[in-house]
Amino acid sequence: MKIIEAADYRGMSRKAANIISAQVILNQRSVLGLATGSTPIGVYEQLIEWYRKGDIDFLGVQTVNLDEYCGLGADHPQSYQYYMHTYFFDHVNIQEKNIHIPNGLARDITAECADYDRTISLLGGIDLQLLGLGNDGHIGFNEPNGSFNKTTHRVALKEETISANARFFDDPKGVPRYAMTMGIKSIMQAKKILMVVSGTGKADILDQALFGPVTPLIPASILQLHPDVTVVADEGALSQIRTHGLI
Ligand code: GLP
Repeated sequence: MKIIEAADYRGMSRKAANIISAQVILNQRSVLGLATGSTPIGVYEQLIEWYRKGDIDFLGVQTVNLDEYCGLGADHPQSYQYYMHTYFFDHVNIQEKNIHIPNGLARDITAECADYDRTISLLGGIDLQLLGLGNDGHIGFNEPNGSFNKTTHRVALKEETISANARFFDDPKGVPRYAMTMGIKSIMQAKKILMVVSGTGKADILDQALFGPVTPLIPASILQLHPDVTVVADEGALSQIRTHGLI
């Protein structure tokens, strides 16, 4: 695992965007696994800036997103479909047909999850998976104490995740209680993983995830077993790890 330190959120975003940019330049047909949450927004902003300058081209790129809320459609401002279009897709030349996100309005969630796994496999797997880190160590919507052996599936969100995400909803009671997420198995099958983490609020969980025991209690701890993980984090996020002298 490589840990790359950035001075601040902007630096973290630029370094992570550089890694994604390199991936797309090296393989114009890359399959990018993408993430939502507040942390990756700066990464997308940077990629958009480089796209506008002509430095990066998304025409041949395929994307698969980690997760989506059950019950929210593309026109709901809190759906991850909406997020991805607002923060990224609408500003670059990615082709609509190359965008893949679980359909939050699917009637048959089990079939939707199976279709999603099939899509990822037909694309040849994920070349580079971008991840954020939940406050409790979740990745995608893989909550603590879940199985490490699942592909895309439906999850019941934990109260902590519901309340952490309530800040994005006009009506906090409107946060969905279920989501579809790529499983830990799907994430671990990505050829490369890039995790972005920012702020002192994540310092403790990042320390536990990277240097604590590998346990379903901290889903991100499984990344210790992946052969190609890069963590780009700012000083705040790395502050606890630094006190141990581990970096
Ligand atoms: C949500 C998303 C995760 C994300 C997490 C952390 O739960 N499903 O993919 O990593 O939030 O978000 P933030 O970056 O806002 O802390």
